[in-house]
Parts: sequence; C-alpha cells; structure tokens
Amino acid sequence: MECRFPEGFVWGAATAALQVEGALDEDGRGPSVWEVFLRERPGRVFGGATPAVACDHYHRFAEDVRLMREFGLTGYRLSIAWPRLFPQGDGPLNEPGAAFYHRLFDALTAAGIEPNVTLFHWDLPQALADRGGWENPATVRAFVQYAETCYRLFGDRVRRWSTLNEPSWMTLHGWLTGLHPPGRRDPAAAARVSTALLAAHAGAVQTFRQSGIPGAIGIVLNLSPVLPATERPEDVAAARLADAILNRWFSDPVLHGAFPDEGLALCRDFGIAPSPDETARATSPAGRPDFLGVNYYYPTHVAADATATAYHLNTSGARGEDCALALAGRFRSVRNPAGRYTDWGWEIFPDGLYLLLKNVHTQAPALPLYVTENGIGLADRLVDGEVHDPERIAFVRGHLAAVHRAIGEGVPVRGYYLWSLLDNFSWSNGYRKRYGLFHVDRATLRRLPKDSASWYRDVARANGF
Ligand code: BG6
Repeated sequence: MECRFPEGFVWGAATAALQVEGALDEDGRGPSVWEVFLRERPGRVFGGATPAVACDHYHRFAEDVRLMREFGLTGYRLSIAWPRLFPQGDGPLNEPGAAFYHRLFDALTAAGIEPNVTLFHWDLPQALADRGGWENPATVRAFVQYAETCYRLFGDRVRRWSTLNEPSWMTLHGWLTGLHPPGRRDPAAAARVSTALLAAHAGAVQTFRQSGIPGAIGIVLNLSPVLPATERPEDVAAARLADAILNRWFSDPVLHGAFPDEGLALCRDFGIAPSPDETARATSPAGRPDFLGVNYYYPTHVAADATATAYHLNTSGARGEDCALALAGRFRSVRNPAGRYTDWGWEIFPDGLYLLLKNVHTQAPALPLYVTENGIGLADRLVDGEVHDPERIAFVRGHLAAVHRAIGEGVPVRGYYLWSLLDNFSWSNGYRKRYGLFHVDRATLRRLPKDSASWYRDVARANGF
C-alpha cells in the first residue's frame, strides 16, 4: 500500500446545515440571515438559487446516514442550525428543532459514525441581525448560551465540537466584498466583527470546559498558503502581509493569544485597529483549542504591485474567469502560470495542504489537527445513471497523499473530512458547483454515488490506498 494511515484515522465527509437541510420554515425554525439576504438580493447567487430545499437532509437524514455507513465513513462533520434551536437567537429553546438533532445524533451513534459538530456555519438568526448582529455584544452572549445548550442537549453523543466555521471567509464576504450577508463593504465593521467572532469562540470554549462534559473543542479555519509571486523582497513582504490578513488574523489569536503585527499595523494605517478591550476578549487564553480544524482548497500567489482594491469570485464556473483579491498599494493575488485550475478558478495544489499542515504544526507542535474540509467543485454530469468523476478522485488522492506525507513527518493529523457528502447549496455558486460524493438530482433529490464515493469507500475500509 502506498499510503497507510494511522489506526483510528477518521474517514469523514462534511456538510453544513444551511447547505443541506432545507425545511427552513418547518418545526418552528426562525429565519437566518441568508434567506433574508437572498430574498432582498436574489441576483447575488448563481442562477438565483436558494437553500429552501437544498438536499432535503432534514427529511432524508436517515437515508444519508445509511449511505455514510454503507460507504465506509467513520466520521461526519455537520453544523447545527442556530435558528432551529433558537428562532429568535436567544430566549426559549425550540424543542421540535432540538428533536431533529436528537434523531440525527441517535442515527449516527447507531451507525457507529462519529459526529464532529460545528456550532456556527454562517446561519445567524435574522432576529439577532436585526439587533446589530455580530456588531452587538449581545450576539456574542447569545452564541455562548446557544453553545451551552448544545453541549447539554447533545454532549452525551457528540464528543468533538467546533465553535465557528471559517470566521475569516465570513468576515471577508460579509463585511468587505459584500457577497455574503449582511452584504456590507465596511472595513471598520469588518475589524469589529472579527474581534466579536474570536470573543464568541473563546466564550464557547470556556463554557464547554466549565461544563465538565467530556470531549474536545476547537475551531475550523480556512487556511491558504500564501506564496510570493517572485523572490523580490517587495513580493515576499506583500505575501507576508496577505498571510497576516487572510490566515493569521484568526489563527494567531487562537494559537498564540495575539494578533499578527503586520495585520495590526495595517489596521492602524486605516484607523480601524481593535481597542484594548476588544483585543483582550479576542485573544483570551480561554480560547486555546483542543484541536484545530483546517479547511484547505487552494493556495494564494501574491505580488506587491496592486494599483486598485478589487475582489472577484468566479461563481459561474466559466473556465478562464480568474478570481482576484487586491488591496491597493499592498498586495494582489496573481495567477500561477504553471498552475492547474478548476472551472471556478481555484488552483489545484495538493502540496499546499502539506505546507500548511507543517506550518501549523511548527506553530503549535502539540495540537492535533483535522482536515475539516477539502474537495473540488465540478460541474459533474449524470450520464446513463452514472457520474464519472475521475478529477475528484485524483484531487482527493493527491491531497490525501499530502496529508500522509505530513503525518509521516510527525504532524498529528487525526482525520480527513471530504467536502462534501452531498452536492449542496454552494453559497454564491448556487447548485452548479458540485462537491458531493453523492450526486443529488435537483428535480427528484435522489442520491446517487459517484465513482469517487466507491473509491473513497475502498480507501476508508483499507485505511489507505
Ligand atoms: C468553505 C465553506 O468555505 O468552502 C463551505 O466552509 C463551502 O461551506 C466550501 O461550501 C466550498 O466553497 P464554495 O463557495 O465553493 O461552496
């Protein structure tokens, strides 16, 4: 065998509540910011898609758990929808909403599949947004209360918790590019929200530890190795700054209890540096995680010569349409001339996963790591009742080999969750960009294993390939 993984390595797949559940108005669930945002600005999502039905996982979860078991998965990363438990964000618990997760965790337990639960994957209750959302400290308090309820309700079956999913991506799009709710372009608010998210994380970790409930708690960060376009000192410095903003603004507080100097200097230049109080709450030692979840999709190549601030995300899958990220006078992302790219303009670079796992390990040598998301969005096609996706198999195989190499060099990577279990609501990309091991027919919602599902099953069963 080329790559044999350590005993007990978790072979998982990941989803998020809003992307798969559907049933948004059922059993007392309140609206989240996403439904309201999309109602107000339907053009924001490719094809005008909505998450109203998604994969109908709310009604079909038993079938989905059965598929996971049949296809050899030992772990399932999912998120709980805060507005299902607390339609108003705080206040009384919505029992029917909680009952859904009881059913789901019971089914997973019976199937021998370990849940890895994210408390917040971007679906903020709209009621809290109406009161200022993450810019109101009451939201941080409500989050900690919601987290505590989850530990109490589900802590007998859930032993692995993550507070937040990708606070960096959420802040970038919610408050800088405006692609996600609340659709703002306000750097000062972005800075405030980033500190609130980190404070919410620290509060939820502290509450978990005080609860005495057994298990481990961490956070899921999207990390992208930032590589200078050339070895010129200005490009190297630009890459360091981009790394501080895109990665270390969230990882440094969590791992080291401080914001990165380059990021702070940039904030000071813009007059938006966090106050001492905000900094203390965001960098609290209480937020040190038991493990780190790493989401990796692509690397970022950076040059210094940015003439204008710009952002572009390819949401259509039109081949050749580049994604772009630039901050005037500081850095801009550039295409790697030697790189291979998906139709959505994301570079395929398995070594990036190796580099970042090694990098995190150097920073926090004792910290167990999980790859909590990694996968490829493709315009998969159903032909004669089958989906052949050799590109996905090659992608996952390459990235697993990178994980294996890191493990071989002593990095404690404990599991891999492929994004995603099902073709789902891919945020701004709607439903065209498919990530699933299982194809979901949009008309019938029928699940069909792709070739990659069978391949992944064999890898999971053999504990390697
Ligand atoms: C991560 C998210 O950013 O990447 C997932 O945690 C998301 O929710 C995934 O779906 C892939 O991104 P996208 O935008 O292509 O769906």
